[in-house]
Order: sequence, then structure tokens, then C-alpha cells
Amino acid sequence: MNSSQNSTSRREFIKASGKSAVFSALANVAIPPVHAAGSDLIQIALVGCGGRGGGAAANALRVKRGPVKLVAMADLFPERLASDLNKLQQQFPTQVDVPPDRQFLGFDAYQKAMDCLKPGDIVIFATPPAFRWVHFTYAIQKGLNVFMEKPLTVDGPTSKRMFALAQDASAKNLKVGVGLMSRHSRALQELADRIHNGEIGEIILQRGYRMHGPGGYFLSLPKPAGISDLLYQVKRFHSFIWASGGCYNDFYIHIIDHLGWMKNEWPVKAQALGGRHYKLSPEGVAYVDQNFDVYSVEYTYSDGTKFFFDGRCMNGCEEIYTSCLQGTKGMGIASKSGDCGLPSSLYKSQTATAANLIWESKVSPDEEDPYQNEWNDLMDAIRDDKPYNEVKRGVEASVVSSMGRMAANTGREITFNEMLQCEHDMAPDIERFTMDSPAPLVADANGRYPVPQPGIVTTREY
Ligand SMILES: NC(=O)c1ccc[n+]([C@@H]2O[C@H](COP(=O)([O-])OP(=O)(O)OC[C@H]3O[C@@H](n4cnc5c(N)ncnc54)[C@H](O)[C@@H]3O)[C@@H](O)[C@H]2O)c1
Repeated sequence: MNSSQNSTSRREFIKASGKSAVFSALANVAIPPVHAAGSDLIQIALVGCGGRGGGAAANALRVKRGPVKLVAMADLFPERLASDLNKLQQQFPTQVDVPPDRQFLGFDAYQKAMDCLKPGDIVIFATPPAFRWVHFTYAIQKGLNVFMEKPLTVDGPTSKRMFALAQDASAKNLKVGVGLMSRHSRALQELADRIHNGEIGEIILQRGYRMHGPGGYFLSLPKPAGISDLLYQVKRFHSFIWASGGCYNDFYIHIIDHLGWMKNEWPVKAQALGGRHYKLSPEGVAYVDQNFDVYSVEYTYSDGTKFFFDGRCMNGCEEIYTSCLQGTKGMGIASKSGDCGLPSSLYKSQTATAANLIWESKVSPDEEDPYQNEWNDLMDAIRDDKPYNEVKRGVEASVVSSMGRMAANTGREITFNEMLQCEHDMAPDIERFTMDSPAPLVADANGRYPVPQPGIVTTREY
């Protein structure tokens, strides 16, 4: 245990003892360096000012245990930063203090935003995941607590790097939350306890489905004029495997994560089908993204039991977006609808009928939102100086996602270890990107990027 973990938590001490005792006691107590020095205010910087970045910042500003202020923002595109800033200022007029000299643009903007913070403050990473390890490295150097969005990695080399960074963060007593919010769903927490206590026996089968129309940046047309290849790929990150892991990692990781949690281990291997039915836009232009529009993955756990995952991005087909488990004594519904939608439930046989119901989650209204819970939990850990680092399991969930994707993209069975050891570094030199850098994917004369070819390209994905 390092010295900061041994020492009394300053905030815990303040909470327990009142101010006068604190000042005399502090003379003899080493203050953990990770806490915001000299003030109970925790400052926030936002790196990646898009949909989720704005949402995560709002959750940060709504935590039960403030005070919290947003003081710096970073993005690549001025309009993105301005849009999030404007919305947040309207919602939280007294908690947003981001003047022009703390608004930063460019691939090095993350450093400048973090330079505005003190050790113990919090930085939010809500860019595409390819940048996660670069930004996390700097946050650890600066002694910052972190909230980072999922996925954490999309390939083998960066997964190994993130495992090592996770250890570095813990060694510095930094608190790190990961945006796999299912883990903070009070319903799924109770479901996990009940399943691990054997209420439906041994888990022998799991199923996950996310099937809806093409969302986000799932589909992309050839790059228009007036934007570089790199910025086009970053902007439409769901379309490109190096940036996001494609729709597979970005859309499917939540269900993969919480079903692994229920089973209490990660699948050891995957085989998969995937294909592209719709290659042309309604105008007849070829799409240039790297996604399949259907994936059907068979994951296997070490005991031989299976987890089947179906993903589809197609209009007009039946929409199914749910997760469930079959045990030797009954079944459970983890997410009724969506990534972790309430309620979760357990049944005494293999059909989910009212007559078979043995338990249905009931969550108090102030804890129904897992996105808010994950921030209250992170803030409690910071203010009470409790160990808190979700990176290892976040990387593992990312590797399991990548394993399913790689199985579909290559047409081969892929093991967890093979995915982790795969040497395809999908975004080399990303830590040195500038606005003028070449993109990791180079288009051909028709504006098309390399796509997966199962059975033909089998040792890497494209
Ligand atoms: N937990 C969830 O349920 C959830 C929901 C949505 C998104 N997400 C995750 O959040 C992340 C962002 O997704 P989004 O939907 O908000 O996308 P988005 O496109 O709305 O926002 C991403 C922002 O990051 C900026 N950006 C890209 N590269 C950058 C860099 N190097 N430095 C600074 N800024 C950069 C972009 O310009 C953009 O404004 C993804 O990893 C996604 O998977 C999680």
C-alpha cells in the first residue's frame, strides 16, 4: 500500500471531525496528493464536447456531494465545444466557468484543458476511444481523477497499454470511473447479487440483442471536399474500426459487459457471422464505412456455456434490444429494454410470465438513472478517499467486444488471449496527431477504405 493510501483521508476527516479539529490534526497528517488542494471545490475539465461529453458534464455538475465546477473544455471542432458550453451554461449558470482562455481546440487541447486543473480534480474523456490511452497517460502524470467513457480500447496493443496505465493510476491513488453505467444500475447490482447467490441455479445460456435502424455514424458516404481524411474519420468514428471499434464495440459493449458480470467471468473465445446486405445509399452511392449491418456472435465461457449476441443496424426489421440469462433453475431478464433498462427480473422457469415471476427490481426514483449513479459513486470515492478504479474491467469488456468483432471480420474463432496479443496497432502515432496528420485509413481512388474480408484477410481485420 502506498503512503497516500495509508494516510487519513482529508475529506473523511473533515466530514467526521468538524473544522477546528482538522486544522490542528492536519499538521501531523500527510494530505493525499490526489485531493483538490486547499478547497473542497472539485474542478472539472471536459475533453470531447459531443453528445455524451455534455451529458457526463451535466451528471458531474449534478452530483449529490458538491461543490463542483466545470472550468475547461477541449475539442477539435469549435462548433461542438460552443454547443456543449451553451447548453451547460443554460442548465448550470453558477457552475460553468469556462471563459475563452479555457476553451481549447486541436489534438493537443486535452493537455491544455488538464493544465487548468489541480491534482485531485476530475477530467472527463468523451472523445472516440482511440484517444483514451493518450489522454489517460497525461491525466495520470498530472495526478487527476478521471471519468472516461466506454469503450476503452479497440485493439490488442492499446489494451495492454491501458492495463498498465490502470495500475499506474491505482499506484497514485487516483479514482477512475468508466462509463459502463450498467455497473451502477441499482437493479442490475441486485440482480447480480441474486444470480451469484444461485437464485436461478447455474447460468447455462445468455442472450443479448441490439437490433434497430442505423444510428449514430454507423453509415458513411465518401468524404466530401473541405475536410481532411483524418478529421472525417474522427468525426464519423462509429464508421471506422481504428477510431471506435466500429458499431460493434460502440453499440454492443454495454450488454456484453453486464452479461459477463452476471456470469462472473469473461468469455474465453468467440466465433461469429457478419455481413453487409445494404452497400449503397438510396441515391446509389457506395457506403465507405467498415461496419457490417448484421453480427451474430457465439461467445463461449471456460465452462463451455454460451452467450449469443445478435447486433443489427437495419431499418424495417424487428427491433429487439434486451439481455437475458437462462439458469438451471429459472431465467432472468437483465435489461428489459435498452442498454440497462428497468426493471430487471427473475423467473422460476424458462419463460418470463407473471405467474413465474420470483423477483422484480424496485429502485428508488433518485437512483433510477445509472448515468447519475456512476457520478455519485465516483464522487463518494473521491470525497471519502476509497479505492476506485474501473479501468481493468473496462478494458476487459473492450477486449471481449473486440474479440467478437474480430471473429466476424476474419471468419475465424478468436480467443481472448489472441485478441489481446494481436499486434495490429490500428492507430499508430496517435499521440502525435496534428490537424495535418495523415489518417490511419487511406482511401482508394473511389474514396473507399479497406473493409473486412472474412476468409481472405484473417490475421488482422482489414
Ligand atoms: N455510456 C454511454 O451510454 C454512452 C453513450 C454515448 C456515447 N458514449 C461514448 O462516448 C464517446 C463519445 O461519443 P459521443 O456520442 O458523445 O460522440 P460525439 O461525436 O457526439 O462526441 C465526440 C466529441 O469528441 C470530439 N473529439 C474527437 N476527437 C477528439 C480529440 N482527439 N480531442 C478532443 N476532442 C475530440 C469530437 O469533435 C466530438 O465533439 C464514445 O466513446 C462513445 O462510445 C457512451
